[in-house]
Amino acid sequence: MARRAWLRSEGFPSDVFDGKPVVGICNSWSELTNCNAHLREVAAAVKRGVIASGGIALEFPTISLGEMFMQPTTMLFRNLMAMDVEESIRANPLDAVVLLCGCDKTTPAQLMGAASANIPAIMVPGGPMLAGTFRGARLGSGTDGRKLFDLYRTGRLNDEEWSEVESCIARTSGHCTVMGTASTMTSLAEALGMTLPGCANIPAPDSRRLAIAELSGRAAVELIEAELTPSLIMTREAFENAITMLMALGGSTNAVIHLTAIAGRLGVRLDARDFDHISRRTPCLANVKPSGEYLMEDLFHAGGVPAVMHRIADLLHRECLTVNGRTVGENVASARVQDDAVIRPREDPLFAEGGIAMLHGSLAPDGAVIKQTAASPHLMQHRGRAHVFENREEMNAWIDRDDLPVDRNTILVMRNCGPKGGPGMPEWGHIPMPRKLLKEGLNDMVRISDARMSGTSFGTVVLHVAPESAVGGPLAIVQTGDEIILDVASRKLDLSVPEAEVARRLRVFVRPKPHYHRGYGRLFLDHVTQANAGCDFDFLDAFPDQ
Ligand code: FES
Repeated sequence: MARRAWLRSEGFPSDVFDGKPVVGICNSWSELTNCNAHLREVAAAVKRGVIASGGIALEFPTISLGEMFMQPTTMLFRNLMAMDVEESIRANPLDAVVLLCGCDKTTPAQLMGAASANIPAIMVPGGPMLAGTFRGARLGSGTDGRKLFDLYRTGRLNDEEWSEVESCIARTSGHCTVMGTASTMTSLAEALGMTLPGCANIPAPDSRRLAIAELSGRAAVELIEAELTPSLIMTREAFENAITMLMALGGSTNAVIHLTAIAGRLGVRLDARDFDHISRRTPCLANVKPSGEYLMEDLFHAGGVPAVMHRIADLLHRECLTVNGRTVGENVASARVQDDAVIRPREDPLFAEGGIAMLHGSLAPDGAVIKQTAASPHLMQHRGRAHVFENREEMNAWIDRDDLPVDRNTILVMRNCGPKGGPGMPEWGHIPMPRKLLKEGLNDMVRISDARMSGTSFGTVVLHVAPESAVGGPLAIVQTGDEIILDVASRKLDLSVPEAEVARRLRVFVRPKPHYHRGYGRLFLDHVTQANAGCDFDFLDAFPDQ
């Protein structure tokens, strides 16, 4: 009686609750997360669907993570949001949950939380923005923003033009318009079977976004009846489907960390071999920035995730179940590619292999990643001398100086940017090109760090070096002038320094002081795992004692 009475204070009549399933709508709406700022409208559409199917819909907020504002990085708070989602679901009397996400970390955080809570769940991403236009060219947020910023840094765009870019690069609601982390993770949520088919790529302002949200509300009620929980959908085979799609889409390197963390919540161990094995056999077909030319809007019109999945159906576990109760194979059977320029044919892929290569070697004993589809072919095999930045502040202080002692063969190394060192493993890995080399017309060089990189970035950038420097990984002892060997074809990243010298340097290595002594930051530093383990907290995966 008390629960009913208190809910009636929200204005519900007495018969609303009788025998009806309760569907929570977990909303990451926030005016501080511009990419998710339209999600209350999406929530209203979900409610219509829940009510139409005989349920009650109750919307609730959690912390939201907006890439543009949160410092030092949203990644520091992904696990906090995942805990918020998990405990909000578990603590309340919900029969199912609809997850509304958009901006980069909101998708993995919700999937991690929902996986651990394991009640029936369905995801509705907010969709990508529409493209902006500047001087007749369509702009991909992030990717083109960086290219234009380099023009501004070198005086080839003036203040007025730069201000015009600001006005048009993010012109509608929704998340970034390229295959960045948000587009990647929402597409992979669909590949995992956690959204209705065709849901992920519908642009945010498109009326079909609200229509599919309503259908998702209806599906949430049906999930309860079917007792279809995330652990029955997100199986090892479903994760292999998601990795296959990650490669076919040329998706963000961040997805390696997020998929590993989501899988860990369900007792599925993913490691570098899973990603690399699938990468080698999967062609990259999505011709979308930053690997290709087009934008998310174009991918949607070309058929979106279902069309890409149809084109690589032989590489997928088609028997995997999805939230509509049908299998992946059934869902994509009738999908067709509408534009071969955007979703390339198998016999004419954008790249023969997947977008991401996993590296190992004496500089990265526990692995590192490179987005080979967004790198320069002539640098994929490269031997060069390191120029080391101790941290991001040092890099920022030097990168535009004319006396920075680097040339086109130099390998830029930056440390103290990992999970504990950043802290939170910020997206600092895309070290800007030194201004003096930009002026010489050079636009890429090898860059290595223990940071992550925005999915919208590009270049020959090695990321996620593990163990990170702050815990004494070999990255900690690289010195300016040391030779480094990168060989992407053989998946090698080596520091060409004698082992005895590496051991000597490690003996005198001193860990940097921790960034936090109290609060959530302390919890994070005490429990975050390394990049190769997904950066989840060690007590949150499904096997915390191993
Ligand atoms: Fe939110 Fe790019 S800033 S997706």
